[in-house]
Amino acid sequence: MKILVVGGGGREHAIIRKLRENPEAAEIYALPGNAGIAEDAKCVNIRATDIDGIVRFAVEHAIDFAVVAPDDPLAMGAVDALHAEGIACFGPDAKAAKIESSKAFAKELMQKYGIPTARFRVFGDAQPALDYVREAECPIVVKADGLALGKGVRICRTNAEAEDAVRAMMLEGAFGASGATVVVEEYLEGPEVSVLAFTDGHVVRPMVSSMDHKRANDGDEGLNTGGMGTIAPNPFYTPEVASRCMKEIFEPTVRAMRAEGRPFKGCLYFGLMITRDGPKVIEYNCRFGDPETQVVLPLLKSDLLDIMRAVEGERLSEVPVEFSDQAACCVMLASGGYPEKYEKGKVIELGRAPQMAEVYHSGTARDAEGRLVTAGGRVLGVCCVRDALREAVGAAYIAAAQVRFEGMHMRTDIGARALAADGMEE
Ligand code: AMP
Ligand code: GLY
Repeated sequence: MKILVVGGGGREHAIIRKLRENPEAAEIYALPGNAGIAEDAKCVNIRATDIDGIVRFAVEHAIDFAVVAPDDPLAMGAVDALHAEGIACFGPDAKAAKIESSKAFAKELMQKYGIPTARFRVFGDAQPALDYVREAECPIVVKADGLALGKGVRICRTNAEAEDAVRAMMLEGAFGASGATVVVEEYLEGPEVSVLAFTDGHVVRPMVSSMDHKRANDGDEGLNTGGMGTIAPNPFYTPEVASRCMKEIFEPTVRAMRAEGRPFKGCLYFGLMITRDGPKVIEYNCRFGDPETQVVLPLLKSDLLDIMRAVEGERLSEVPVEFSDQAACCVMLASGGYPEKYEKGKVIELGRAPQMAEVYHSGTARDAEGRLVTAGGRVLGVCCVRDALREAVGAAYIAAAQVRFEGMHMRTDIGARALAADGMEE
């Protein structure tokens, strides 16, 4: 089978490694891939947002199955365009991807179908938004409606800060068109849990839960990033919470999307907060999370390609989706300065890390001399699976310590909060 994977980060690397476990996955192409993915697939220099280029490539190379992983091409209709050429895909069409590409749409969906989430207001004009946040109870959360690389959310401690956030998004265009509409919502408290779920539009099969660490520095200090590390499973996601989520959130969301004429097929990402009043949705993503995928897929015992094909064929209920009861930890190695300004092109020495862990490449490239160099803010994810979380965390850090590049930055407390919570239960 000829398979195409759209994207070129750590998430795509983890997807490709897992797909390769199926002997039918004879040829895998990554568009555009990266230097690490090049060891597991054939990389082709077509951008993930070049929809015409992707479709042309898929047709010319008689691709049997395409996996579209990042949010941008999904929102732009990559799956619709591939389907129009008769190519089977894993991923939602543009209509269903709206659950991530418009926060206002997602909030209104939850309200209409009684899915628990923070109370909110949507504003399309700056003046009423400013009037509202001037008087609102703080802290309050201001979010740009559209895609903003995970940076379009401001937690505001004071009314002045909230006014500032509205002004930046709606009047100064800090996030371009994504900020033309804003969602202002109630501040929620509690541990966060990420749950990725396979769904074929009818059946929903949650994967093992995980915990992201979004802030740049230890102790959840510093700016929000795409994610500095993950662990799975998430100890705050108890069996009781899981069964509430299934009944109150996962199944109702899949039903709601179908009822709206936007059946969702692919991986639906539930960003949840476990509040005192129960689990609530913080955000939906229409795709696998990064770096959640790097800890979730290594724990998948069932065959990923079979599951993806069953999702496309709307027969997910017929295939097993089983996870190991081990634990995983992924430590992200980032460029110094990320998520703000950082330099690229730093030579990377992996040491013995690839023998000690799964090393998923996020932002890497080869320079003119063929050396492995940094090419992005997040560079590598070092992931270990062990019987217990404590061992997985320890092993991931030992392997991560093997890697060197100038300016390398990592958090040293990935998994610490989860281990503390686990300890309380033991
Ligand atoms: P989002 O991009 O919507 O996932 O938001 C990014 C991060 O902001 C989340 O992971 C939360 O940590 C935080 N956040 C978002 N919405 C809220 C909220 N209503 N209350 C508290 N924190 C929030
Ligand atoms: N790690 C968060 C995300 O993928 O959106």
